[in-house]
Amino acid sequence: MIFKRLREDIDSFIARDPAARSRFEVAFLYPGFHAIVVYRVAHWLWTKDLRLLGRWLSQTARLLTGIEIHPGATIGRRFFIDHGNGVVIGETSHIGDDVTLYQTVTLGGISPSVDSHKQIDVKRHPTLEDGVIVGSGAQVLGPITVGRDARIGANAVVTRDVPPGVTAVGIPARVVMPRDREHAKDFVAYGTPSDGCPDPMLKTIENLRAQVGALMERIDELENEAEEVHKGRGAKKKAVNSGGDA
Ligand SMILES: CC(C)(COP(=O)(O)OP(=O)(O)OC[C@H]1O[C@@H](n2cnc3c(N)ncnc32)[C@H](O)[C@@H]1OP(=O)(O)O)[C@@H](O)C(=O)NCCC(=O)NCCS
Repeated sequence: MIFKRLREDIDSFIARDPAARSRFEVAFLYPGFHAIVVYRVAHWLWTKDLRLLGRWLSQTARLLTGIEIHPGATIGRRFFIDHGNGVVIGETSHIGDDVTLYQTVTLGGISPSVDSHKQIDVKRHPTLEDGVIVGSGAQVLGPITVGRDARIGANAVVTRDVPPGVTAVGIPARVVMPRDREHAKDFVAYGTPSDGCPDPMLKTIENLRAQVGALMERIDELENEAEEVHKGRGAKKKAVNSGGDA
């Protein structure tokens, strides 16, 4: 079961990072993956009330990867942390399936109120629903909910609920446009929609083909125009000649 889940995690790295080429590469070289593996074990310890051991494991992973995931956080399947350094995920964060975080993202608390400070099990951190993408440097703070398939722009500071499927950017974060539901079904690397052609070489070739097509059409038009002009001149010459004969 745990291996199946880890395999799923690896596959999600390959699916969402254009630079990831093989499972081997992800398993050995990706700190985001290492942090997730350790988190899964630390979280299991946490749920078995071995909390100190869970925290020790999580802090060891932080030393090695630069990613701090509290073992009390709840994280769904196919979680992807790209680059990872500086990511902090607080204790009462709740992360759904197929969520993506880039480097230096914080899922943190806001200033603790007198009431919540030191109270166990008070929700202080955000909930990210399935399919959310959080851009690098974004700070998502407080017990708020970021709705399914929403995208948070790089360096945004989010302190209020974000509706499902929208893009939110800036400080404080504001919604910039409703997400196209069709588009939101698919993961787009860096949260940035392209025109459906993710390979830059292919995109360049497609552009060149389109330009060549447009040039060919223009040449055809010019040839037709030249032919018309030529025909017109021929007819004029004939008329002049026939006028001269008369
Ligand atoms: C927000 C994001 C997901 C793009 O979403 P989108 O739906 O394609 O939005 P658009 O690019 O059409 O931008 C919409 C508006 O938001 C602005 N915007 C986009 N990203 C922004 C950001 N991070 N901060 C501030 N404004 C931003 C755009 O300038 C545009 O403004 P305008 O309407 O005044 O021109 C993307 O810009 C982003 O920040 N992705 C994260 C990338 C990342 O972290 N990469 C790390 C890789 S290592």
